[in-house]
Amino acid sequence: MDMSLGLGWPEAGKGSLFIVVALLIGSFVYLYAPYWGVRKVPGPPVIPLVGHLPLLAKHGPDVFGVLAKTYGPIFRFHMGRQPIIVVADPELCKEVGIKKFKSISNRSLPSPISGSPLHQKGLFFTKDSRWSAMRNTIISLYQPSHLASLIPTMQSYIACAAQRLSSENENEQQGVDFSSLSLKLATDVIGEAAFGVDFGLTAPADRSSKDAQVSEFIRQHIYSTTSLKMDLSGSFSIILGLILPVLQEPWRQLLKRIPGTADRKMEQTNAKLSKRVGEIVSKRASEKDRGSKDFLSAILNARDRDGGASRSLFTSDYISALTYEHLLAGSATTSFTLSSIVYLVAKHPAVEQKLLQEIDGFGPPTLLPSADDLQHKFPYLDQVIKEAMRFYTVSPLIARETSQDIEIGGYLLPKGAWVWLAPGVLANDPKCFPEPHLFRPERFDPDGDEEKRRHPYAHIPFGIGPRACIGKKFSLQEIKLSVIHLYRHYVFRHSPLMESPLEFQYGIVLNFKHGIKLNVVSRSLA
Ligand code: HEM
Repeated sequence: MDMSLGLGWPEAGKGSLFIVVALLIGSFVYLYAPYWGVRKVPGPPVIPLVGHLPLLAKHGPDVFGVLAKTYGPIFRFHMGRQPIIVVADPELCKEVGIKKFKSISNRSLPSPISGSPLHQKGLFFTKDSRWSAMRNTIISLYQPSHLASLIPTMQSYIACAAQRLSSENENEQQGVDFSSLSLKLATDVIGEAAFGVDFGLTAPADRSSKDAQVSEFIRQHIYSTTSLKMDLSGSFSIILGLILPVLQEPWRQLLKRIPGTADRKMEQTNAKLSKRVGEIVSKRASEKDRGSKDFLSAILNARDRDGGASRSLFTSDYISALTYEHLLAGSATTSFTLSSIVYLVAKHPAVEQKLLQEIDGFGPPTLLPSADDLQHKFPYLDQVIKEAMRFYTVSPLIARETSQDIEIGGYLLPKGAWVWLAPGVLANDPKCFPEPHLFRPERFDPDGDEEKRRHPYAHIPFGIGPRACIGKKFSLQEIKLSVIHLYRHYVFRHSPLMESPLEFQYGIVLNFKHGIKLNVVSRSLA
């Protein structure tokens, strides 16, 4: 009889048991480690693996407002395994964004972005000294005189888009899809300003770009942007990244090889986009006389001029990512805001009346406002824009991450904790904005009591502190020029196809689910 069998099985059994126990403990530690460091911050009970995702499914994005009411201005929300500390109070936003910025200057990397270098190497997600060095160079390219010099270019695209509006408005029953046209407009403007390329999206139909490469580039850009979903409707590897981040990369590597998967399609699209952007960058880099009007040329000039350190900072992959980031960050946000303004003004005749009075009072329709006019001569338009951005906050959450142990709102948070500011919750807080469900631009009147009483950081649609949006002045200039031009020629009414209430889609920024459908009424006929 072989004694080794009799003695071996119990030994092997012990070994297997040990492995199972070790695996269980390992999984437990893996799942609960991020929670442990932030457990003292209040929040609802956590369901293993999915965290608070069922709450997100139940309430939609209003979940953060609902939780703020129950748990106060700083609370925990678990996106799958990952806890997020949500900050929903203006004073605490100031603490995170300004007072303690040095300890919390980076952004957390959400799972949809972690597989895409093109999206990661821009300003948004770079970290620490690389971020500050890149940001310093880029800020210097955004001089007010440079922005002012873009006015005629912006205006020419706006005029083209306005012409298309009237030609597309022929079918009264259907009206025009304003949000789609405003996305084309914002993409054309940023395409010219960032790449120095005319995408031709707003040109009259007979003159619009026949360039198959350009159309393909834009198609891929739109696919790539809209497939970066932050909820549970993204690709399988993205969903896995929310629940078990350690498995995301191996699964992505596997799935991108399997035809028909969303991961493969995203991989292919991002690879083609990177290639296309890379080609534009290297062609421009080889041009001696490239000028400095667009962002890409200006950054290449800065790199050539500053030499050594700048060359190692701005390698071609970073330049590609930074330039592409402009298209990404500047098109959907600006067009959403312009569409919101027109949609809301169409619903509020008294606001429309006051806005028209201000615009008509500026001068004849052919008088192009200067940068200074835009800043000082349209105070009511300023209020309308602020109120529309409050009413529909395009970036309702702003992601940051601690780079060392730090106390926020009385809680000690460990290094690496995800801290997200919630401008979308602030925008609906009746303490800051009485009767928040009402669209009332006058609440931003600088002489009014409401504005004087309000905390200075209650309205932060462009973020806060040294990491706030670099494109704020650019997009406000574009939005103001667009509103002025549009209302000089037209007023807008909701088309019979416009749904009520509005429905939204949550990607990397907020978007309209079914678009904004409007009837365009020429003011000469009104
Ligand atoms: C209505 C239009 C826009 C809105 C609402 C908006 C909103 C935001 C927000 C909330 C942030 C995060 C700020 C923070 O962390 O505090 C941000 C960052 C950023 N935005 Fe915008 N944005 C808009 C237009 C633009 C445009 C036109 C550009 C480019 C020309 C742009 C480029 C960027 C970049 C590069 C960052 C990252 C900054 C950094 O991390 O240093 N944005 N934006």
